Amino acid sequence: MTRPRDNEGQILDKLSRAMDQKMGPGPEGKFFFAPSRINLIGEHIDYNGGKVFPCAITIGTYGLARPNDLGKLRLGSLNIRSFGEVSYPLPDYDNKRGWLNYPIGVFRYLEDLGYGRDKKDRGLDILIYGNIPNGAGLSSSSSIELLFAVIFDHFMADGQVDRMDMVRSGVWCENEFFGLHTGIMDQYVIGFGKKDYAMVLDTSIPSHTYVPFDLDGAKIVIMNTRKARALKDSKYNVRRSECEQALSILRKEKDIHHLCDLGQEDLSLLEKIEDPLLRKRAKYVVEENIRVMEAVQAMKDQDLTKLGMILRAGNRALREEYEVTGPELDAITGAANAHPACFGARMTGAGFGGCAIAIVKEEEVDDFMAEVGSAYKKETGRDGEFILSEAGDGARLL
Ligand code: GLA
Repeated sequence: MTRPRDNEGQILDKLSRAMDQKMGPGPEGKFFFAPSRINLIGEHIDYNGGKVFPCAITIGTYGLARPNDLGKLRLGSLNIRSFGEVSYPLPDYDNKRGWLNYPIGVFRYLEDLGYGRDKKDRGLDILIYGNIPNGAGLSSSSSIELLFAVIFDHFMADGQVDRMDMVRSGVWCENEFFGLHTGIMDQYVIGFGKKDYAMVLDTSIPSHTYVPFDLDGAKIVIMNTRKARALKDSKYNVRRSECEQALSILRKEKDIHHLCDLGQEDLSLLEKIEDPLLRKRAKYVVEENIRVMEAVQAMKDQDLTKLGMILRAGNRALREEYEVTGPELDAITGAANAHPACFGARMTGAGFGGCAIAIVKEEEVDDFMAEVGSAYKKETGRDGEFILSEAGDGARLL
């Protein structure tokens, strides 16, 4: 049930061998890596000006890249065995191009900012391979975006691209290129992640501070429901527009920019929202933002019992008020939260399937994974997947 993940050495070997086989001889390439992420708490509030508490992790997407003199991008993904070429000038979004839209979007955005103008038609050969499950809510798409951003930076812009512009290139891909109205959290933490630290990201600015990721005697277990979800088909955009409607009602009452400008003392203001559905969504958002700062304090105090309780409360609210969980996530978090070795578990990321996280006593992690796995299977018929990972560094040249 815990699938061994390819380690870095195996992946780099695989990429090197495939480069010569698939693309023929050429100059020696360079290796790059962009992590995936988990979010400890602060879900669906990065598009509401909230504070979120994610960290980059040590699994993600690897790339091997080298220049070619063909004036085009030759691209391959070893995960899905898909290869393709794109010529300059880089084309518009096309659904039929599948994952090739990622490098096209990121490169186009950075070129439009003026980076790499003199190298505008320089060709590159790029192969990628990820050791994260796709569509599992660990933000494999932002990982790919930031991987292409660091590759662009290295080969096309001599390392001159501002990190924040790399982050924005990924957000732009999602929002404008793919039409998915996601927030900034994923690309930001993948861009600025730091080994052994989680990040408090204030999305209203945006700016961040680091908090040591230190769970004394406990581990984070990532629990994949293996219920894949494509955000495009999910209710993600609907939730975002519900928040916007709630905000426009509340702005008649108080001068605010975001729902998360409201605090505990403003909760009574939510009565002004007549529609019970919108009121429930707004309540979730305001309270989740409060929970984040409580969770950060609990982590700083090494109070795992308290941290676990906050995670549980957040998960309940995601299920009942924001309604983004679903039977598989409810089954896996339910089994985890019922396990005596678990301080607290909650879904992570967009929801609607994908992954959850649990804080678990270190010496009982193996039992936890076996027992939660079989309870989950009994309830859903699915084999879950359990992943152990640590807080890692952001996207980079290796
Ligand atoms: C996805 C989005 C993020 C964020 C989360 C939910 O991962 O990409 O911007 O909204 O969902 O917290």
